[in-house]
Amino acid sequence: MIRTQVAIVGAGPAGLMLSHLLHRAGVASIVLEARSRGYVEGRVRAGVLEQGTVDLLKQSGVGERLAREGLVHDAVELRFQGRGHRIELSRLARGRTITVYGQQEVVKDLVRARLEAGGDIRFEFTDIALHEVATSRPRVTGRMQGESVEIACDFIAGCDGSHGICREAVPRSQRAVHERAYPFAWLGILARAAPSRDHLVYAHHDRGFALFSMRSPTLTRLYLQVAPDEELSAWPDERVWDELEARFEGEDGWRPARGAVIEKSVTGMRSLVVEPMRHGRLLLAGDAAHVVPPTGAKGLNLAMADVRVLAAALASFYSGEGESALDAYSATALERVWRAQHFSWWMTALLHRFPEGDSFQRRLQHAQLEYVVSSEAARASFAENYVGLPFEAP
Ligand code: FAD
Ligand code: PHB
Repeated sequence: MIRTQVAIVGAGPAGLMLSHLLHRAGVASIVLEARSRGYVEGRVRAGVLEQGTVDLLKQSGVGERLAREGLVHDAVELRFQGRGHRIELSRLARGRTITVYGQQEVVKDLVRARLEAGGDIRFEFTDIALHEVATSRPRVTGRMQGESVEIACDFIAGCDGSHGICREAVPRSQRAVHERAYPFAWLGILARAAPSRDHLVYAHHDRGFALFSMRSPTLTRLYLQVAPDEELSAWPDERVWDELEARFEGEDGWRPARGAVIEKSVTGMRSLVVEPMRHGRLLLAGDAAHVVPPTGAKGLNLAMADVRVLAAALASFYSGEGESALDAYSATALERVWRAQHFSWWMTALLHRFPEGDSFQRRLQHAQLEYVVSSEAARASFAENYVGLPFEAP
């Protein structure tokens, strides 16, 4: 039997950052991850960091490479009906910007920081089960290298993402699940091509949504709206590029530069919130508690905001201040979660093509897009939400 203060399930951004922040506050933790280190460090996912996430990474001492390699963006483009409209960020959002830096780079930086500080991350830890989470002596059991392992702890942090087991450990009678499914998915590619635009481009087109993003001065990241059950085999590289060009068409003649495709995958889209984010000594954070469609680039940032609040609440408990901060954790985190849920849902509804070809909805989309790009107040509202709400004061 191993003992720790906080057992953290999942070595994604939420679990790793929580372990890092707890360490800085003098609280011990063990991170339990089902996959290998190579797998979690190689998984291509999010790429846009809000100002609050960047500040948190830097202030907590894991932002050195981010400061060197992150691409700071001061604008995004909304493109529709053949025209691109640049929306400035820092002028409209009180000096705040976004930074493009791959999620797997954040994960690599956090894993390295934890291991260098003597942190305990157990990769390939499988068959996890949670026990007695409603008591003050919860336990986690699982298997590692063929051996059964049991961990006794004070708290369990459920940071195991949207398909994890922690959410299910909250009895059905004790949780409410709010959900929205969308009739489409994103096909994403990573290509060896220098980004041909210095900002992200969100395109609304009759053929469907498309997004131009990047990872570095030599890597372009692109997405296409596809059907939820789309087969990757139906999308050879040539077809992907042709479709991207069709959806980004415009009077300025801009198109993404082509290059070798080095990753290709389809991701489903949904919105989901589990309330509350705490059950006894089990605390949920990140995608384990809420999922957003990727359109607003909020998922990773919400995970970071959650664990910042959670780490502070746990630190307050261990410094003898009782459970009041832990009691407030769910409500505090959910306030931000619902704001981001709304923005992600709104941006998704604004930009995608809905399969039934509803002409009323399309007209509404065009009217709203015109308003967003032409009204200073609407642009400011967009910018303020896109760069993200300020993180809670420590
Ligand atoms: P995860 O990153 O999912 O980590 C959970 C970890 O738990 C994983 O390592 C998993 O292997 C592990 N795990 C799961 N089950 C178990 C188990 N039973 N036992 C042990 N370990 C387990 N967000 C943004 O903010 N900006 C973006 O630009 C953006 N773009 C995205 C693009 C795509 C294509 C996708 C798919 C997502 C995107 N997101 C974006 C969302 C973002 O990637 C997630 O919100 C983020 O990964 C959440 O972090 P997390 O730590 O909560 O969960
Ligand atoms: C990405 O670069 O992967 C990305 C950017 C913006 C989004 C979603 C994903 O809204």
